[in-house]
Amino acid sequence: MANAWFETVAEAQRRAKKRLPKSVYGALVAGSERGLTVDDNIAAFGELGFAPHVAGLSDKRELSTTVMGQPISMPVIISPTGVQAVHPDGEVAVARAAAARGVAMSLSSFASKPIEEVAAVNPQTFFQMYWVGSRDVLVQRMERARKAGAVGLIMTLDWSFSQGRDWGSPTIPEKMDFKTMVKFAPEGALHPKWLWEFAKTRRLPDLTTPNLTPPGGAAPTFFGAYGEWMGTPLPTWDDVAWLREQWGGPFMLKGVTRVDDAKRAADAGCTAISVSNHGGNNLDGTPATIRALPAIAEAVGEQIEVLLDGGVRRGSDVVKAVALGARAVLIGRAYLWGLAANGQAGVENVLDILRSGIDSATLGLGRASVHELTPDDVVVPPGFRRDLGAA
Ligand SMILES: Cc1cc2nc3c(=O)[nH]c(=O)nc-3n(C[C@H](O)[C@H](O)[C@H](O)COP(=O)(O)O)c2cc1C
Repeated sequence: MANAWFETVAEAQRRAKKRLPKSVYGALVAGSERGLTVDDNIAAFGELGFAPHVAGLSDKRELSTTVMGQPISMPVIISPTGVQAVHPDGEVAVARAAAARGVAMSLSSFASKPIEEVAAVNPQTFFQMYWVGSRDVLVQRMERARKAGAVGLIMTLDWSFSQGRDWGSPTIPEKMDFKTMVKFAPEGALHPKWLWEFAKTRRLPDLTTPNLTPPGGAAPTFFGAYGEWMGTPLPTWDDVAWLREQWGGPFMLKGVTRVDDAKRAADAGCTAISVSNHGGNNLDGTPATIRALPAIAEAVGEQIEVLLDGGVRRGSDVVKAVALGARAVLIGRAYLWGLAANGQAGVENVLDILRSGIDSATLGLGRASVHELTPDDVVVPPGFRRDLGAA
């Protein structure tokens, strides 16, 4: 059997592409419109350089930190994504891998596994919500997550219902029944390893959203839930402050790219923000998050925890983000490729790649700890930054 271990996230992505049916792979690549943002998230990390030392380096490096009160073994946590149909163990496998590597988990409310199962395997689980449904319904979902053991709440606000991408959107069925299986059979037949993972469980890929199940009701389909979202009046800053108050514990606002919004998030009492553009899946043309990070970190970094997500594919990307002011990063596609390539072990593989990359860059920069990284460690070309809403 071929070696299941892979040495970079790029290799995990190649394996995911080979293994997954085209429509599932396409849903993970995602991006929107022209793909400007999804591309810039990656390209921008490539524009940054390092200023390494060669002697007097530290024999040991401290990589651990905390995010929203949770001690983690390195400045990386799992970003919330719905991983329907990628792997039968879905978010439970991701949460197990994260726990095995001392990393916190975030579970999307659009995920394919219930919060109870996920928090049971990773006690450091944050639950992510969108503003979907009435205030009563939001509280009811939030209380369910609290009861299940969620240790923090993430509110994701960057979503403007953009549709379409120039390279074509995958067909995603409303639900997986026999008729749909027959329709998608050719895709499955071309990807026998993927099919076999599901065949072993004797279950079809589940396209429902069990974390949005009303009390006593059935889990809505992905599209059913999306419809409810589209019909929900959009939240105000008062709504954000209200939700944070209802939760009462560590609270992250995900999706901030502007300094003025970051200040409002701090005023609303948020514990943390993630400088995020939804991995380039939202408003296309939003700059790479690593370009927007420095101004935001300078403005609110002393008041609240500033995280970043978008385009992180290597340990050196994590180090660049931390040097420019992020406390930690969230990863999305990197672990999705790992999950697709090799289940839980694949996610552990990705986390190990990141850890060794973070350690290597920290060593090269002559730092004994990720907490010592500063903007001086990074070569920032002129014109790199985008100080949005800073005026
Ligand atoms: C397939 C997919 C599904 C996602 N679903 C969610 C979601 O349900 N909630 C959320 O807050 N973000 C979601 N995101 C955004 C990620 O949490 C994260 O912001 C993004 O993936 C980071 O960029 P990266 O993939 O380049 O690491 C999703 C991203 C992808 C690729």
